[in-house]
Amino acid sequence: MMKALLIEKIDGKPGQVYYPLKQVDLPKPSIRPGEVLVKILAAALNHREVFIRQHLYPGISFETPLGADGAGVVVETSSPELERKWKGKKVVLTPGRGWESSEEGPEGRYVIVGGTVGVSHGTLQEYVAIPETELEAAPSHLSIPEAAAIPLAGLTAYRATFTKAKLRAGQNVLITGIGGGVALFALQFAVATGATVFVTSGSEEKIAKAKKLGAAHGVNYKQADWSKQLKALLPKERP
Ligand SMILES: NC(=O)c1ccc[n+]([C@@H]2O[C@H](COP(=O)([O-])OP(=O)(O)OC[C@H]3O[C@@H](n4cnc5c(N)ncnc54)[C@H](OP(=O)(O)O)[C@@H]3O)[C@@H](O)[C@H]2O)c1
Repeated sequence: MMKALLIEKIDGKPGQVYYPLKQVDLPKPSIRPGEVLVKILAAALNHREVFIRQHLYPGISFETPLGADGAGVVVETSSPELERKWKGKKVVLTPGRGWESSEEGPEGRYVIVGGTVGVSHGTLQEYVAIPETELEAAPSHLSIPEAAAIPLAGLTAYRATFTKAKLRAGQNVLITGIGGGVALFALQFAVATGATVFVTSGSEEKIAKAKKLGAAHGVNYKQADWSKQLKALLPKERP
């Protein structure tokens, strides 16, 4: 058996309810051909877990453990080839299903792992059995908790920054709500690319932190004239 975290169904309307967390014992998953068993060493949270607990997220499940993001170590494999490739390796898990490679968007019905119908596991469980195709090697320069935080927000920010915005060195970019998980990844990607990064936040402290991470300027969206303040900060040579 293994421990897992679910939400418990209680009465209440979407947006007004806040489902409690429930720790349960579930059978330890067994692997099928093509799969490996990952012992989860760290899991990360996204705002979606709050939305799920408020019943403000599509397709929520009371039977599926929560958590889209996780990292761990491969402890069992289903073939000698997979054993050679993965056994004992530190890995991150892919957070979605139904979206393979198209830049346009999901090719099929897209589901994010954890707390939802359509995928039977989450990362807030001790062991996950998944196809080898749903793993990536964890970056060796990161700790396991750092690696666990990357997949969902990192992919979302990557797509927004590069696939959609096609950001290049020397361009100006505005990242709104810099205190957010996705925004913080977008900031780091944009700075690494050599863009000039402007941010908004409802908190001066978060703007100061963003500047430490490489943002050029920030304005507080709680001030009515924030867009004018921002315009005044743009470089005169490339507004
Ligand atoms: N997390 C994911 O992997 C993921 C995946 C797909 C889509 N998304 C979507 O991406 C968005 C951000 O998700 P997240 O997980 O990063 O959420 P989050 O961590 O909760 O961040 C949301 C941020 O939005 C900012 N904000 C709130 N009110 C604002 C306002 N009036 N004007 C400007 N900014 C405001 C806040 O920034 P300050 O704290 O700086 O004030 C807050 O930190 C959401 O729409 C989410 O549904 C997220």
